[in-house]
Amino acid sequence: MPILEVLTFPDPRLRKVSQPVAKVGPEQVEFSNAMLETMYSFKGIGLAAPQVNRLDRIVVIDTRAKDEEDRYDLSDLTDLEKKVPQPLILFNPVIVATEGNTTYDEGCLSVPSYYETVERFDVIECEALNQKGETIKFKTDGLLSICIQHEIDHLDGKLFIDRLSTVKAGRIKKQIKKRGYPERKKDPEASEKEGVE
Ligand code: NI
Repeated sequence: MPILEVLTFPDPRLRKVSQPVAKVGPEQVEFSNAMLETMYSFKGIGLAAPQVNRLDRIVVIDTRAKDEEDRYDLSDLTDLEKKVPQPLILFNPVIVATEGNTTYDEGCLSVPSYYETVERFDVIECEALNQKGETIKFKTDGLLSICIQHEIDHLDGKLFIDRLSTVKAGRIKKQIKKRGYPERKKDPEASEKEGVE
């Protein structure tokens, strides 16, 4: 499957609102698989369709860490996170309930190499369609919860830098304007972990 091009801020296409997927068919499944492969190739833990220039409400996520021998190390996951099978491929995801607040140093494949602390809901209940077109509903917290909220923001044309204070957002935007982004490394062996998509 092809590795898709990931748009970067300030590309105006990242600001559009994505449309619900009417039907999860073979084409949508194939596209979501290409998204997943693209996310893995850039060492991301989440990717939303508008980041690869498609305005459909599709997100892919895998927050599982890997050890030095490329085996999954689930020790950092919370009990709720462990109950959710990953990778997670969601069509039309909606957050239907929330509890509490938390913060995390977020990054984004569309704002590569920049990180800032963002406030999110701690626990969320999410409803979506899976690749079979079935409705799934689950509750989660931890990094998975943060990642889902970050990806749904993308579907609404929103980036993590929009959730910062005016001062912090201004500082990041200024740095990006001045320094730009590091060159993308597609070789997973050579690239650094980029954090939340
Ligand atoms: Ni992102």
